[in-house]
Amino acid sequence: MGTQAIFDEVEYKADLRREWHEAAPGWQRWLEVLEADEAMPRIGGPLLEAARLAAGDRVLDVGSGYGEPGLTAARMVAPGGGVTLQDLSGEMLATARTRVEAADLDDVEIELVECDADQYAPRAGRFDAVLARSVLMYLTDPEATLARLRAGLRPGGRLAASTWAGPEQVGFAAPVAVIRRMLDLAPPPAGRPGLFALADPEQLRAVTAGAGFIDVELDTATVVFEFASPAEATRFLRDCAPPVTALVETEPHDVQARVWQQVTDEAWESFVGDDGRVRLTNLAHVVTATNPE
Ligand SMILES: C[S@@+](CC[C@H](N)C(=O)[O-])C[C@H]1O[C@@H](n2cnc3c(N)ncnc32)[C@H](O)[C@@H]1O
Repeated sequence: MGTQAIFDEVEYKADLRREWHEAAPGWQRWLEVLEADEAMPRIGGPLLEAARLAAGDRVLDVGSGYGEPGLTAARMVAPGGGVTLQDLSGEMLATARTRVEAADLDDVEIELVECDADQYAPRAGRFDAVLARSVLMYLTDPEATLARLRAGLRPGGRLAASTWAGPEQVGFAAPVAVIRRMLDLAPPPAGRPGLFALADPEQLRAVTAGAGFIDVELDTATVVFEFASPAEATRFLRDCAPPVTALVETEPHDVQARVWQQVTDEAWESFVGDDGRVRLTNLAHVVTATNPE
């Protein structure tokens, strides 16, 4: 077995934390693109509907990043409810905190928790719903973590989560193939956490059922990110997609410049309209489930 096959969880988590720390200003900068009606809310909407929230409910938003979909949930559980926004990255949560302060929420309790979801064990039965938009694939042991999160749900409580589908269905990941070809990079070994670790919906279903959930249902949602030009799409990617930029960041500056130019010239080709604008379509898998009574 070559050294490449050895997975160092401590190193992986340190890299993950650093990458999301570095991406946090980008997520703040591109918030309007990310939260445009046809963008991430296209996943957030179905997750919130599936969570069946009511006033007074307590919600956990795992890997909440800039605070979604938890912050939208907060408006649905008022009055008297509460939302816990949890994330590995304090810098991502800083954006969430700013948004919470600006949201002027009445009669709803908001808690921000910086920690690794793989280590997080909420008090038994504390929550009515767990949301996890675009995060489960980064977990080192999603089944064990989902089982701990399930224990934090009341009997009958709901899980609503999403992961990205495979690379050929996720437009913002189109540069990955260009980058791998240019830098002669092998794909990651199977089974590693990362952007496409739960791209197979049946694996997502199995992990959820394996964690003890019942009524496991799968659906899909399509998210569109729109940009004025290919160059703008590349700037977005570099600012917001740490799993992709990490492939390039150790290269010398001139190589990085060549790679990003090639990404701009080639990767977005099939998404450019007659008006020159780039509309990236991205497929997500949505899983919903119930904690048994
Ligand atoms: C793609 S962003 C999604 C943010 C938000 N949920 C959304 O949909 O807009 C992924 C987030 O998951 C967080 N994350 C990654 N691994 C994590 C872990 N093990 N525990 C908690 N958060 C994690 C990152 O810090 C980042 O904020």
